[in-house]
Amino acid sequence: MKRSIGLAASLCALLCAAFFAGTLGSLAYPHFTPTANAAETSALPLTNTALLKHGANLAAIGDCVVCHTTDRSAPFAGGRPLDTPFGTIYSTNITPDRQTGIGDWTLSDFTRSMRRGIARDGHLLYPAFPYPHFTHMTDADIAALYAYLMSRDAVQSTAPANQLMFPLSFRPLIAAWNLFFLHPGIEANGETNSQANVQAPAEPATHGAQLIRGKYLIDGPAHCAACHTPMNLLGAEKRGDAFDGNVIEGWEAPALTTLLSAREPWTHDQLAAYLRTGFADQHGAAAGPMRAVTQSLSNASDVDVDAMATYLLSLQKPAEASPKAMQQTAQANMNNIRDGATLFSAACASCHAANAPMTTLGSRPSLALGTAVNAHDPRNALRMILDGIPTDRSMRAAFMPGFADTFTNAQIADLAAYLRSNFSSQPAWTLDEADVERLRKESHEP
Ligand code: HEC
Ligand code: HEC
Ligand code: HEC
Repeated sequence: MKRSIGLAASLCALLCAAFFAGTLGSLAYPHFTPTANAAETSALPLTNTALLKHGANLAAIGDCVVCHTTDRSAPFAGGRPLDTPFGTIYSTNITPDRQTGIGDWTLSDFTRSMRRGIARDGHLLYPAFPYPHFTHMTDADIAALYAYLMSRDAVQSTAPANQLMFPLSFRPLIAAWNLFFLHPGIEANGETNSQANVQAPAEPATHGAQLIRGKYLIDGPAHCAACHTPMNLLGAEKRGDAFDGNVIEGWEAPALTTLLSAREPWTHDQLAAYLRTGFADQHGAAAGPMRAVTQSLSNASDVDVDAMATYLLSLQKPAEASPKAMQQTAQANMNNIRDGATLFSAACASCHAANAPMTTLGSRPSLALGTAVNAHDPRNALRMILDGIPTDRSMRAAFMPGFADTFTNAQIADLAAYLRSNFSSQPAWTLDEADVERLRKESHEP
C-alpha cells in the first residue's frame, strides 16, 4: 500500500519536474552529443598489466559484473532485469562489442556516463545504474576501469526493452532527477581530488589513510549506500539518513551505523571477513543481494576491503541498551511458538541446534548471534526460511535449503515466532500468515 501512495506522489512530482527537464535540464547538461570518435581508445595502454589489475579491482569493488551479467559465460553482456518501484530496468551490454556494447566509446564517453549518467549517443541513463556514486571516482580510476572493460571479450547482445510506467519511460525526465539528486564528484568539475587519490598501498596503511581510502571506496565505486540508505519517493537516497538501512530487492539491508549494538558487536576483522568471504563466524552468512556483493568483493584487494571495514567502523553510533525491548509490544502466542519448536526440531535443528555437527565444527554461529532473528523487522528471517542460501562451490558451508515449497504460510510464521522467542531477547514480532504470503509474492533476489 505504502508503495503505491509513494508512486502516485512520485509521478506527480516528476510530471511537474518535466518542465525543468525541458528547460533547466538542457542547461545543466550541455553535452548531449556523442564525443568525436574512438581514436582515444587505441591511445590507451591496454596491455599495461598493472592498469588492468587496478581496473579489475575497481570492477570487483563496484559489482559491475553482478548487475551487468545474466549468463555467467558472457560476463558484462547485460540484460539483467532490475526491479524498481517504477518498473523493470535492464542493464546494458558493457563489453567492447562495437554494435551492441561500448566498443565504440571513447574514454571521455565512458567518463561522462560514470560521472553524469549520459550514454554515448546522449540519452540519459536511469539512476538504477549507480552513477550518483561513480561520479565520485577519480579520473585515474575511471580510466583503469575503462581499460579493464575494453580488455574483456566482446559479446554481441542487446538488452530487452525496459518496462517502466509512463511517464518514466520518457528518459529526458531523468534530467530533472539529476538536477535535484546528482551531486557530481570533485573531479567531475575539473578539480583534483587529492584525498581520493590515496592509492591502495602495498603495506597496511596508517589508520588515517585507511579511513580516507575506505570512505572513497564506500561512497564511490562500492556504492554501499545505494542499498543501505533509506530512499525518498523518487528513489533517491536520503542524504541525512546515510547508511540507516533500507528494504531492497525484497530484503532488509540493515543499518550500517549500529554494528556495535549487535549482540556480538562487529569488529574490524569480522567485518573484513564478512565482506571478503560472505561469512563472519560471530555473525553468520551474507544472503540475498548482499551475497553477490561479497562474491564480487572476494576478487577485490585485501588492503581495500580492510580500508572499507575501517571506515564502516568509524560510522558507528554509540551502542544503545536495546531501546526497542522497552517498548510495549504484542505478546507472542505460546501455541505458535510450540508448533514452531516442533517444526524447528524436524527441519532446522540438524544444522542450527546448539549441538548440531556444523555448529560444533565452529563453522556456523548460533542463530542468536545473527542479525536476522534480532532485527526489528522479521523480513530477513522470513526471506531466509523461504529462500534459503543457494549452494555455491566456493562457500559450501553456507548452504541452506529454502522451505517455501515445504511449509505453509502458517507454519513459516510459527517457525519465525519460535526463532524470535528462543534465539533473541527482543520483543515478539507481530506477524501472521498474510505477512508471509506478502513476502512470498514480492519480487526478490533469491
Ligand atoms: C545496481 C546495478 C548496476 C551496477 C552495480 C552497475 N551498473 Fe552499469 N548500468 C546498470 C543499468 C541498469 C544500466 C542501464 C541504465 C539505462 O539503460 O538507463 C547501466 C548502464 C551502464 C553504462 C551505460 C552503457 C549503455 O550504453 O547503456 C555503463 C558504461 C555502465 N553501466 C558501467 C558500469 C560499471 C563500470 C560498473 C561498475 C563500476 C557498473 N556499471 C555497475 C546497472 C548497474
Ligand atoms: C545490492 C544491495 C546491497 C549492496 C550494494 C550492499 N549491501 Fe550490504 N547488505 C544488503 C542486504 C540485503 C543485507 C542483509 C543480508 C543478510 O542479512 O544476509 C546486507 C548486509 C550487510 C552487512 C551485515 C549487517 C548486519 O548487521 O548483519 C554488512 C556489514 C554490509 N551489508 C555491508 C555492506 C557494504 C560495506 C557494502 C558496500 C561494499 C554493502 N553492504 C553493499 C544489501 C546490500
Ligand atoms: C543444511 C543446513 C541448514 C538447514 C537444514 C537450515 N539452515 Fe538456516 N542456515 C544455514 C546456514 C549455513 C546459514 C548461514 C550461516 C548463518 O547465517 O548462520 C543459515 C542461516 C539461517 C538464518 C539467518 C541467520 C542470520 O541472521 O544470519 C536463519 C534465520 C535460519 N538459517 C533459519 C533456519 C530455519 C528456520 C530452518 C528450518 C526451517 C533452517 N534455517 C534450516 C543452514 C541451514
